[in-house]
Amino acid sequence: MYIKDNFIQLNTKNTSYIFRITKRGDAEHLYYGKRVPDGDWQPMVEKRSLLLVNSLYPSDDISYGIDDMSFEYSFAHRGDSRACAMLLKDDKGEVFDFVFDSIQKGGLKFDNKACAYGSDEDIAVVFKCTDRKLTLKLWYSVFYDSDVIARTVQLINDGETDISVDNIMSYQLDIDGQDKKLLTFDGAWARERYKTEKSIEYGRYVSGSLSGMSSAECNPFFVVAQINADNTKGDCIGFNLIYSGNHKISLQRDTYEGLRIMQGINDEGFCFNLQKGKTFTTPQGVMTFSCDGYNGMSQNMHDFVLNHIVRYKGELPVMLNTWEAVYFGLNVDKLKTIADKASETGFEMLVVDDGWFGKRDDDTTSLGDWVVDKRKFPRGLKELADYVKSKNIKLGIWFEPEMISIESNLYKNHPDWALINSGVRNITGRGQYILDLTKKQVREYLVSSISKIVEEQKIDYIKWDFNRRFAEIGGGKDSGSFLYNYVEGLYEVLGELTDRYSHLIIEGCASGGGRFDLGMLCFSPFVWTSDNTNPLSRAHIQEGTSYGYPMGTMLCHISASPNHQTARISTFDTRANVAYNGIFGCQMDITKMNEEDLQKLSKVIEEYKSDKDNIRYGKFYRLSDGFNKNDFVWQTMNSSGDSGRITVYHKRFMPVYSSLRIKLTGLKEDAKYRITGAGKLDITAYGSTLMNSGFSLPQNYNGNNMSDDATYLVDDTAIVFNIKKL
Ligand code: DGJ
Repeated sequence: MYIKDNFIQLNTKNTSYIFRITKRGDAEHLYYGKRVPDGDWQPMVEKRSLLLVNSLYPSDDISYGIDDMSFEYSFAHRGDSRACAMLLKDDKGEVFDFVFDSIQKGGLKFDNKACAYGSDEDIAVVFKCTDRKLTLKLWYSVFYDSDVIARTVQLINDGETDISVDNIMSYQLDIDGQDKKLLTFDGAWARERYKTEKSIEYGRYVSGSLSGMSSAECNPFFVVAQINADNTKGDCIGFNLIYSGNHKISLQRDTYEGLRIMQGINDEGFCFNLQKGKTFTTPQGVMTFSCDGYNGMSQNMHDFVLNHIVRYKGELPVMLNTWEAVYFGLNVDKLKTIADKASETGFEMLVVDDGWFGKRDDDTTSLGDWVVDKRKFPRGLKELADYVKSKNIKLGIWFEPEMISIESNLYKNHPDWALINSGVRNITGRGQYILDLTKKQVREYLVSSISKIVEEQKIDYIKWDFNRRFAEIGGGKDSGSFLYNYVEGLYEVLGELTDRYSHLIIEGCASGGGRFDLGMLCFSPFVWTSDNTNPLSRAHIQEGTSYGYPMGTMLCHISASPNHQTARISTFDTRANVAYNGIFGCQMDITKMNEEDLQKLSKVIEEYKSDKDNIRYGKFYRLSDGFNKNDFVWQTMNSSGDSGRITVYHKRFMPVYSSLRIKLTGLKEDAKYRITGAGKLDITAYGSTLMNSGFSLPQNYNGNNMSDDATYLVDDTAIVFNIKKL
């Protein structure tokens, strides 16, 4: 960090973020990009003299164009006619004037663990509201090695009256808007985080979520890039928000060609009553710049997530999940049979999904009754835990803690804990309702009932599901802050459990990947990426997710063919090769698998075990744009860059088509590498050749004269090559 006069320069390993305090007491953004020398600010400062006839400016300075300048944060009704980052109200009205006061170094604290840890420097630019005792702090945290800047905003009310906070974005970034494009990651259940690319035109683009969760419909991660950027080249900035609730992404390209980027809690329906003496802290936003295209940007984000978001650093066992194997049809005997096969095959964890508790034979009952179903487990889950332990396997179980079924003892005893509003036609989802986590008793009940099971039944792992979105909300006259308080309540429960049980692994899940966000990743090392495990769908979902999140956070299971979500038929190898690009596991009835596939599965698990740290912490490069091309091509390398894998997923067979040429990346130019794999490929070449010329795949199957030296890239096929430095 370099501060001189009224200039502030934040440096990470490869980037600089620069702004200054104007003589009027605003924070003016000057630069965010590739690192530049400290203090070399002169060229960045705009030279202004006279404004347009209809511009707004302070009465004493005609050159100060408020609706044209780049600001670090903006306020409604202060002359900036673009969308603003903050809107407050009190008895006096909506006009609040914040003026620079001082710089604070260090001292940033959050109320819970949903925040990044291990920053190198924290600095706040402190503003005071002149006619009220209000303090605003714009916090900047530097994560030097990850090339990430995190931002958060604190509003402190030392005044005499409550303040209504109607909008408070986590950050604002005003940059040049010309020749830029936007990448967002949108979708639905079973189609999460599909990349969509848009040009940035005049006007506003607003997206986000209003369902109470970060959502499958619009992930909080997005990218703003130079129009010609791709995986390997071009300037781009990746953004994300450490939050699991309603969020908002807002971009505005204005008449002066500027681009205002903002992100934070979605202000639609939001209104927080900030009582006197209290502080409101926004969720943290994060941003990373890279001039090395999307791959460079993704790797910064990956590094940041692994080293500053995910807390759990212990082992991640190779798991078998029972959901698609038995659904609700489980009992101790069936699971013991599965456990026998699981142990022979090399699995390290059995995760008993839905159906072990209450009287849960389908999805209509029992949510909230976290007591073992004695019909299915007469001697409790501990019998199963002991059994699997004797086979060197750990036990995990599924919970959906935030939910309640009408048909449950919990509802009989506490009907007021369910979010059901009187006097309206209530709306249900999967036949269930959401518990009011803003209530302290509800949070205490969750912590104690989950703790009881974890301790008594010897549980090492929880799959934390969340299968319906919000309709009705609570909070009475404070309903505007209900969804925010709900998320805070959720973080409190998760924080309490992770503090109590350091060995406990929590898998995040929300009907698949409906809450794949940095907030949940502060408590869960990984998230169930999607319910859709079909390789074609998964190639899209995993590639889309990889833009913002590392492979080590994506839970990827091999499942049955035909696939239960798409009915598509895929070979074992294709299913395994796609699932291998994440935290590998399985969910199918392995007692019904044929011997050949079972042996293959055992081999994959063995290989994966020796490779799992490389997948979890290694580097991931996209070598093609799978969303727009016929092939997804992924290169994964171990952290030292000495060995790795190349996965090619081919969507549709094209007869008599030229064979694919793959240009690798991230290799040492003058080192030699050997590549072996599908189609008996075996080549040795220098890193520089493999990165510049690339290598051609052996000829593909062409309908006749198929030889052993050809690849067999037909419809829906994934093949693999290994790469090793010699
Ligand atoms: C939805 C999850 O995404 C599935 O993996 C499974 O756990 C079911 N819920 C169980 O009800």
